Formats: sequence, C-alpha cells, structure tokens
Amino acid sequence: MSVNTPTKRTGIGAGQASDLSYVESAARKIAEVAETDKIVVEKSTVPCRTAESIRDILAANGKPGVRFDILCNPEFLAEGTAISDLLYPDRILIGSLSDDDGFRAATALADLYAEWVPRDRIVTMNLWSTELAKLAANALLAQRISSINTLSAICEATGAEINEVSYAVGLDSRIGPAMLKASVGFGGSCFKKDLLSLVYLSESLYLPEVAAYWKSVVDINEWQKDRFAKRVVSCLHNTLTSKKVAILGFAYKKNTGDTRESAAITIVNNLVAERATVTIYDPRVKEEQIWEELWSTSDSLEKTNACVTVRKTAYDACFDAHAVVIVTEWDEFKVGDFPIPSSIESWPQSSALTTPTSGVNEKPTLQADAASENPNTTSNAMTGLDWGRIAKVMRRPMYVFDGRNIVDVAKLERLGFRVECIGNARSGSKR
Ligand code: UGA
Repeated sequence: MSVNTPTKRTGIGAGQASDLSYVESAARKIAEVAETDKIVVEKSTVPCRTAESIRDILAANGKPGVRFDILCNPEFLAEGTAISDLLYPDRILIGSLSDDDGFRAATALADLYAEWVPRDRIVTMNLWSTELAKLAANALLAQRISSINTLSAICEATGAEINEVSYAVGLDSRIGPAMLKASVGFGGSCFKKDLLSLVYLSESLYLPEVAAYWKSVVDINEWQKDRFAKRVVSCLHNTLTSKKVAILGFAYKKNTGDTRESAAITIVNNLVAERATVTIYDPRVKEEQIWEELWSTSDSLEKTNACVTVRKTAYDACFDAHAVVIVTEWDEFKVGDFPIPSSIESWPQSSALTTPTSGVNEKPTLQADAASENPNTTSNAMTGLDWGRIAKVMRRPMYVFDGRNIVDVAKLERLGFRVECIGNARSGSKR
C-alpha cells in the first residue's frame, strides 16, 4: 500500500493529523478483491499503530478463509536521488507482528530485498517501531536543519560563519556532516507533514511537552523563511515599493521540479506583501505550477497577479532588478566560469537600458545584451551563470541574497554585488 497520507484539512486534527482515508480505502479494496492469503505491505508514511486499523478493516471485510499478514516497510528515498537510494539503501526496515505468522511474512519480504540489498542492511523489527522509525527519521533530519538554521542567525549577528560551524561540528563522528547545510528553510512534501503528524500523535498520547518540542522544529523553519524575507526588505532600505526582486529557483531543492512546501512560496508571498515586483525563474518548474502554488497561498490574488511574473531564463528574471534572491541551490545559479572584468566602472547602469514601461508583467527587452534571447547563450547548467552579464543589467546597489550559500562571494563582490548569505554577515558587516 503506497498511497498519499496528506495532512488533514478539515475535522479533528485538521492541519496536523495525517489523512488516512486513502489508506483505509486501499485496505477495503484489498479485502474486497483478495481471493487467497496476502501479505499486505504498508509503505506509506503513517502514524504509529495504523497497521492495527488496516488489520481490523481487512479482518472485518476479507473473504472467508483468506488471511492477511501486515508488514510495515517504510520508504526512505529522497527526491533527486531516488534510484540510487533504492539500489544502495542505508537500511531496509521491515516491521511485523511478533508471532510466527508475522516472522514468516517478514522473511518473505526480506528475501525479495536480498536480491540486491546485503542481508546486514535488512532489519526486521516490531511493527509499531517501524512505523514510528519512519516519522522519527524525517523528524530528526528536519530537526538538524532547524538546529543549524538557528545557529545561522547567531552567525549573522556575531561574525561567525555557518559553513565553518557546520563543517566543524560535522567532523565529530557522532554528529556527522549530513543535513547540516543552513538554508532559507526546508521544504518538500514530507518533513513538515511528518513533523506535524508526530506533533498530533504526541498530543493524542497526552504528551504536550513532546508535541511542543517537535512543533518548534516546524516553527523555526517558518521563522527562518520569514527572517530571510525580512533581511531582503531591511537591506533594500525597508521599502520594496517599485523595486524589482528576481527569485532564482522555485523548487524545494535542486534536481527536482517539486514545489510542495518550497521556501520560495513564502519568500514570494512576503515580498509581494511589501509590494515588490517579483520575477521568478526556475530551470525545471513549469510556470503553471508556480502560479498554482502562489494562488493557493496568496493573501490577495489581485496583488500576486499584478506583482509577479515568471521568466524563461535567469538573465531575463534579473534584468533591471534591485536584488536577486537565490532560493533553490541549482548548480546553474553558481558563479560560472566566465571571465570577470577587472573594472565595472564603464558598464552602463541598468536604468540606462531599455526598461519596460507599460506594466510589470511585460517582458523587458535587453537591448544592451541581445544575446540573452539566444537559447545557446542563456543559463547553462554545466557552467553556472555569467554574473558579470547580470551585473550589467541590474540596478545599483546590486544585492544578491543567497538562501543556499552557493555563490562565490568574493567573485560576486569583485563584480560590485553586495552579497548576503545565510549564516554569514558578509557584505553587510563590511558596510
Ligand atoms: C526526505 C528524506 O530525506 C527522505 O529520507 C525521505 O524518504 C523523504 O523525505 C520522504 O519521507 O519521502 P526529500 O524531502 O526528498 O527526502 O529531500 P531532502 O533531501 O531530505 O531535503 C528536504 C529539504 O531540506 C529540502 O528543502 C532541502 O533543500 C532541505 N535541506 C536538506 C536543507 O535545508 N539542508 C540540508 O542540509 C539538507
């Protein structure tokens, strides 16, 4: 059973609890059609003890004489690396009831995995532990990101550098380096949903302190996104009215077109609330999807439609912008291997270029840089962006807000950019 378990939108536990209606209907369908004994494998991420409900439904609705064994075998694939995660998993968890039938079913599934996974990576255990382990794994991964993000705020205030702090703590073999990259905030369909499911589970078990602890991981993530947007506003002299901000990246992480819970959604909504003109570019996400996310979260559709446009290249998005905000860590947003001029004094200011005059939604013409319309010279995933070219068409002072710490700050500063990174005071501290 591999079905969605989204967060409930209405009723008891709305906004936190997992909606198990798809799980239940799958169980009912299996009961309806199964003619012979079946091993039912729960692969969806579910609250602890969901298998009990499945067992109940199967037992009550199955055909006479048909027996069902339930296993929990959670999925640990991450988007962008799913095939390699599948082929070379850290572990395969198989949970079963602790009786002979349960052990037999677990062995049957373990044998299937043993075709390509070493036996010592296939772990069998109690059904409820397995269900909770999946939620716990995502909660702990998300907690590491929120933890490092709180430290990023301390770094920005003190002059410490978050990349160095992450590196230093990650060298401790008990901590390790993974999931310690400070960012504008984690996104994706799983972390927030699973944390909230854990919060709801804890509350249902009358464990308010536990619920509050895991809720704080979500709260810090929201705070980090808002904090980053506020930094944009404050660096741009506390007003974004009539200012243009280019958003590079809308996916929740690189190498995927998935935008669910992407930090970009919050950032764009916050900038629109400040009346900024926002241009968005993402190499993988379709324009319709960007609009769908924004329309479903916007406070004012009218404002969103008036302020936001989606562009086909990063260069188009950055044209005439006061600031560039990197939200997704796409390799193509890094500083490409283009020659950096020794002086930018002679470059024209973007205001001297042809600026669109008839409304924010109109596509600007880059007369000073006609090559931008040539698909062969637009952003290149292999070499990164030609930030020198972007510098030529931006307003002064030119800001880059790097929500992923992917740009070469020294190179951008040589081009005249003020660079604001996560967990690093950088340009800000020098002024
Ligand atoms: C996550 C888990 O990593 C998988 O193990 C799990 O199977 C999956 O959820 C799931 O439950 O289906 P995924 O959401 O695809 O996978 O992506 P991650 O690579 O974990 O990244 C999640 C978010 O955290 C992204 O927005 C990413 O940019 C962010 N992140 C990640 C950071 O901000 N810093 C980091 O150090 C790592």
